Amino acid sequence: MEKKTILSGVQATGNLTLGNYLGALNNWVEMQEEYNCYYMIADLHTLTIRNDPETLRKNTLELIALYVAAGLDPEKNTIFVQSHVPAHTQLSWVLNCYTYMGELNRMTQFKDKASKHADNINSGLFTYPVLMAADILLYNADLVPVGEDQRQHLEITRDIAERFNSIYGETFKIPDAYIGKIGARIMGLQNPTAKMSKSAPDPMDKILLTDTADDIRKKFKKAVTDSENCVRYDRESKPGVSNLMGIYGIIKNKTMEEIEEEFKGQGYGNFKTAVAEAVVERLEPIQEKYNKLIENPDKIKEIYEKGDKKANEKANNLIKEVYEKIGLIK
Ligand code: TYM
Repeated sequence: MEKKTILSGVQATGNLTLGNYLGALNNWVEMQEEYNCYYMIADLHTLTIRNDPETLRKNTLELIALYVAAGLDPEKNTIFVQSHVPAHTQLSWVLNCYTYMGELNRMTQFKDKASKHADNINSGLFTYPVLMAADILLYNADLVPVGEDQRQHLEITRDIAERFNSIYGETFKIPDAYIGKIGARIMGLQNPTAKMSKSAPDPMDKILLTDTADDIRKKFKKAVTDSENCVRYDRESKPGVSNLMGIYGIIKNKTMEEIEEEFKGQGYGNFKTAVAEAVVERLEPIQEKYNKLIENPDKIKEIYEKGDKKANEKANNLIKEVYEKIGLIK
């Protein structure tokens, strides 16, 4: 049987968090054996905010190194740069003409980002989900592994694809979101009712994948909990402790019940130390591999050039089909 196809990506904004890792990358690594995987660096998506060009170049190369360091094997996966495959922007324009303003107006991420960048509400920010739909549909992806915050973007992707198919006949595969149960939404350590975010101003709120072991320990030690002093899973009334349990559970592959049992009768001190050590243990080998690879720009280039070529081959077939169906001449 032919392997199913996966596509996903991360924006090249730098400073990846533990949320990005547990919500996305960690699942990707698990999926690489079973699926035909395309993992891209979403560099075009980062243009909705103002970037320093040199920093964007640096972030892009660093993200490729991080993908590999996190465990993605460049031999088994197609790792590529979004802007190196022109079909993404080509399809994005076409799909823009099949997407309604009303649909885009409903996107909660747009509203959220627009309120954070009130001085730069550009039309790229508004049509961002359409480029994301193009990313996914170009590869006929069956599954898209993402965190919970991307669910709405997957829904609009399906709606756009269905609309196009109903006019022009079967063209796009209708993709499903793959959202891991626990890692889907890693919350901030200081504000556990909001997702852990790269852009959070408080450094204590987020664990960065590049944090030192000491920083990680310090941040978990200071993580907000509650006064019950009992390790018990309850997202509503104990968001801080439940978030830490989620993090520990994914890394140690344990259920919430098992974690409650493990820390029964113990205070939060021991528990927080155990969570911090689990994270340090997981991130250290990734950081080591990353530090080696980042010293070797030729190797990084070799990885993405190989991926770019494969991605272009696949995506060009689809864009040709789309152009033909809508009536653009050859
Ligand atoms: P981005 O770069 O914001 O985030 C990358 C991935 O990390 C997940 N994530 C989280 N998961 C759990 N807890 C958190 N606190 C957390 N924060 C982030 C996100 O859900 C995402 O899976 N638009 C996308 C990038 C993109 C894309 C695509 C993804 C562009 N094209 C096509 C899939 C398919 C984005 O901004 O993700």
